[in-house]
Amino acid sequence: MTSQGTRNASQGTLNGKVALVTGGSRGIGAATAVRLAREGADVALTYVNGKEAAEDVVRTVEALGRRAVALRADSADAEEAAGAVARAAEAFGGRLDVLVNNVGVGLLGPLESLSVGDVDRVLAVNVRGVFLASQAAAGRMVAGGRIITVGTCMTQRVPGPGGTLYAMSKSALVGLTKALARELGARGITANIVHPGPVDTDMNPADGPYAEGQAAMTALGRFGTADEVAGMIVHLAGSEYATGGEFSVDGGHAA
Ligand SMILES: NC(=O)c1ccc[n+]([C@@H]2O[C@H](COP(=O)([O-])OP(=O)(O)OC[C@H]3O[C@@H](n4cnc5c(N)ncnc54)[C@H](OP(=O)(O)O)[C@@H]3O)[C@@H](O)[C@H]2O)c1
Repeated sequence: MTSQGTRNASQGTLNGKVALVTGGSRGIGAATAVRLAREGADVALTYVNGKEAAEDVVRTVEALGRRAVALRADSADAEEAAGAVARAAEAFGGRLDVLVNNVGVGLLGPLESLSVGDVDRVLAVNVRGVFLASQAAAGRMVAGGRIITVGTCMTQRVPGPGGTLYAMSKSALVGLTKALARELGARGITANIVHPGPVDTDMNPADGPYAEGQAAMTALGRFGTADEVAGMIVHLAGSEYATGGEFSVDGGHAA
């Protein structure tokens, strides 16, 4: 799942912190959960269908000496999206230090093919769920709190047709992040957004039908790994002064 060293969790930069990663059962979210644990955090993660995969990540975190809990919470459901924050905090004594808004739906397609239902579903998961989770987290966080959201390189450069709905939804998160930074800065809480390029996950396999073209769009000429994106997310979880920022981990897709 991740190949980052064998450092003991007790030596980490996030010792004693509690983190929630939405969509932590696979891909970038799972890699982030494990990296957070390596830095000493206890980790709650949400999933919607992948119970076994989520439990697998829980076992990996526990093997690193940290506590973990998997919560079934559908980000498309407003109550569940917000409620996951309270459930995560309650699982670890009431505190929450880090929220990673990782869940996202990658629905691409020609403009004329996208239905009202598609628009509602993508906005519910990619925007409303992120807003509600951030709102709930901000209500619990104290100084030192971190909200890190996963955007996409397509907020900076849309390389071809088919991305209207996805790019629109993820672009809303840039505005949300900047506004959160302004609103929460006085309380010592930061908000940042990470923009991955093409990353080899179930959502976008590096051997998928459009993979070659995506790799060619990057300066490095290759897909990234979930662990490479997780590295930036976890760096921001430990960063004091970065807020309101957009951080690309995209192999130069936007260059
Ligand atoms: N992969 C890329 O190339 C790429 C590029 C740019 C940005 N991103 C963004 O990075 C984030 C993670 O993507 P990924 O590639 O790691 O995706 P992924 O491999 O498809 O994993 C998605 C994760 O989110 C969970 N999930 C999906 N819908 C959910 C819902 N409604 N409620 C709760 N959990 C849900 C899944 O849980 P289950 O196991 O239960 O299904 C899984 O843990 C997304 O926001 C995506 O837009 C990805």
